[in-house]
Parts: sequence; C-alpha cells; structure tokens
Amino acid sequence: MRISAKNASQPLLLANIGVLLTLRSSHPGPRRGAVLQELNILQDAAVFCLGGKIVSVGKTKDALRDPWIKKNHHKITEIDCTGKVVLPGFVDAHTHPAFVVPRLLDFEKRTAGATYEEIAEAGGGIRSSVQAVREADKKLLNGKILKALWAMSAQGTTTVEAKSGYGLSLDSEIMSLEAIHDAAANWPGTVVPTLLGAHVVPMEYKKNPQKYVDLVCKQMVPLAAKRKLAKFVDVFCDKGAFTAEDTERIFEAATAHGLAVRAHVCQLTETVLGPLLRFHPLSFDHMDHVNEDDIPQLAKRNTVATLVPGANYFLGLEKYPPARKLIDAGIPVAIATDYNPGSSPTSSMPLVLSLACTHMKMSPAESIAAATINGAWSLGLAERKGSIEPGKDADLAIFDVKDYREIPYWFGNDHCEATVLNGIIMMTTENSPARI
Ligand code: NIG
Ligand code: FE
Repeated sequence: MRISAKNASQPLLLANIGVLLTLRSSHPGPRRGAVLQELNILQDAAVFCLGGKIVSVGKTKDALRDPWIKKNHHKITEIDCTGKVVLPGFVDAHTHPAFVVPRLLDFEKRTAGATYEEIAEAGGGIRSSVQAVREADKKLLNGKILKALWAMSAQGTTTVEAKSGYGLSLDSEIMSLEAIHDAAANWPGTVVPTLLGAHVVPMEYKKNPQKYVDLVCKQMVPLAAKRKLAKFVDVFCDKGAFTAEDTERIFEAATAHGLAVRAHVCQLTETVLGPLLRFHPLSFDHMDHVNEDDIPQLAKRNTVATLVPGANYFLGLEKYPPARKLIDAGIPVAIATDYNPGSSPTSSMPLVLSLACTHMKMSPAESIAAATINGAWSLGLAERKGSIEPGKDADLAIFDVKDYREIPYWFGNDHCEATVLNGIIMMTTENSPARI
C-alpha cells in the first residue's frame, strides 16, 4: 500500500470512468424508502478535483474540452478509470479502534457455544479489553488506530467515526481520544471522534454504577468538550451496560457542553427509545431488537439507524438487524463495520455491504447508499461527504470491477484499487490505474 500524491491541492482528474455512482439526489435529508436505491449513475464519466475538493462531475469528453483542464494538462494527475467503478469513499460511521489486543479467548469460547453476554458475565467482554488500554502509552494506541485507518482506506473507506470506550477512567478515555486525534493527523482521510466513556461500568464501580455515570457526566464529557476531543457522546444503552435513565443523564451533559449524541441501542434487548428522542440523536446503532411501536415515530425523523451486521456475523447470530422493515417503513438506514475487538474485528466496508445484501436483504444499490451518503448524514457531514458533487470533499473509491453490484458480490476479496482521501491518492495494488 502506498500514497502516490502527498499534496491535496494538486489537480486530479479521474477520466474514462466506466461507471460513476454519484449518489446525487434532489431529495432533502437522509435517504429513505425508495430513494435509498438512487445511485444516480453516469457512464464514461470524469471527476475533476482541486484543493481537496470536487470541482466538476460529468462526461469525460466534456472534461477534456474544459479550457482550464486543457491549458493545465501537464500539471494534472490523471487516473484512467476505463472499465472501473468509481463511487464516493465509504463513510464508516461506527468504529471502536482504540483498543490494544484482539480478544481471542472470547472468540474461542464462542466457538464452544458461549454467548456474548455469558462471556461478558464471566469476566470477558468489553471489560477484558480495559487493562491493556489503561497500561498502554498513547504512542502504542495511536499506532494501533493508525494501522486500522490505513486498512480501512485500503478497502475504500475515506471517513471514519472513531470511539473511545476501552479506558473507562477519566485519564484513559481522554488518552484514547488524544490517540484518535494523533492518528487522524497522520491519515489523509477524515476522522470523527466520539467519547464512549459509557461503554460499560468498569469493575471498580460495579457496586456503585451511579458514581461512574457521575464521572462520565461531570468530568469526562466536560473535559472532552473543553479540549475539543470529541464531536459526539455515545452510550451503550442496553442490558448489562447503561439504562435509559443513565443515558438521558449523559445526553443532558453532552448537550449542555455542545456535543452531539448517538447511542448503541437494541443490540441485546429492546431499548426504550422515546425518552432519548428529545436529544435529537443523529444515529441509533445496532437496532436488532427495536420495538415495533417506535418505528413510526423514527420514520418521521432524521435519526439514522446505523446497522452493523458484522457483529451479528462474528457473534454467530442467526438473526440480523431488521433492515427491510426499517427501510420499508421510511427510516433512514446506514451500515458500518463496528470495527472492535469483541464483536466485529473487521475493517472492511465491502464485506459489510455483502452481509447487508445476503443477510438483511438490502439491494446492492441500497447497501451502497447506506454505506456512503447515509453514513455521512449520521455523522452530520452530508454537506461535505457521501456523494460525488461539485463542492464536496474529494473522497472517492476506485474499484476494479465492471458492475457496481460486484462490490457486495465478491466477499472476502479485495477489489478496491485506489482511494482518494481529501484529494490525496492512495494506491492499494501494484497494478493500479495507468498514467499516474
Ligand atoms: O458495538 N455493544 C457495544 N460495543 C461493541 C462491542 C464492543 C466489544 O465487545 O468490545 C459493539 O458491538
Ligand atoms: Fe459498537
């Protein structure tokens, strides 16, 4: 893997694109219902980028006739995309990269039949990732996060939401956010940091969980906000983690400190969603056990349901999030990796698209819109990310396939040939596009 162009301000032309999925739409807001299918496809297309932004999108012949492009041809880096599919870089809107070691014991126990909840109760699970993070120095953690970010971009991802959540003390949560920040500074894509201090109650507060909620509300949230280390506050609101009342308290603190909110809900059991809606969460994630009665009110809102089928796959569950029910009811749906050491150790958005199609019965087109523009909506970044339009950030993925349906079709196979992150080109294969 290598970076070809270090300078984002350098003019860049992707020409002769076989199939360009622009994801443009005249519908306002996150894509829902039938609109989730609209990829707005151009053939024999070109995308011209300058200064890390998309300047023009159209037919190749028109781009080559453009007077500025003609005059400055020698200065332009051109990528010949004949026979390839180009789409907006994936927006992975749910990841937990701030961990040190894989949880192989949990994995092995599950092969012997134990469930995620049983393993957590027996001392495994999220709490068993904490000690290594608390003992790690920031450089080590930063290196782990950076490695994950590069692996993600090698598979077409250009924007990543990254949560803390394995420190579970003031110092370790802040250090995790600093490590995310440092890794982001060394990666050309865009990272959106989230404080997940309320991931689970750490061992030392097990007898007094309210004291831990106090710590999150009175110290972690204010400090993360003051130091501008997080855009979002997330809470794992489910059995064995935090209650709806705890979540409301934490969301109140987040709102008071100017941070937006999102939550892990309905992963293991049904979460009461009504009281959380007044905080205008940009996303409710997992949603496996969503209550039927909550569906109509969610359909009227812009809160995105971010579904993470990698977790269902890796935990060996038979059931997957009810994507069809949510989409058909008009709820905007996104999909994400949930990259983490316990339930979803994958950095691959193409694999998640595949799972969305095979296990959640989303169409290939829906899976692509859910992984791009709706991920951008769930992060409050739809103005800049998720579609290929003039004025948006130059975030693009080039796949060496002829038909976009091949992206979810080939699973466990990497067909991403190059990624453009804020105008910077990253080649992922040695036989990358010609004329670089
Ligand atoms: O999204 N559910 C909470 N958090 C993660 C799992 C984290 C872990 O097991 O380490 C999830 O699945
Ligand atoms: Fe998660």
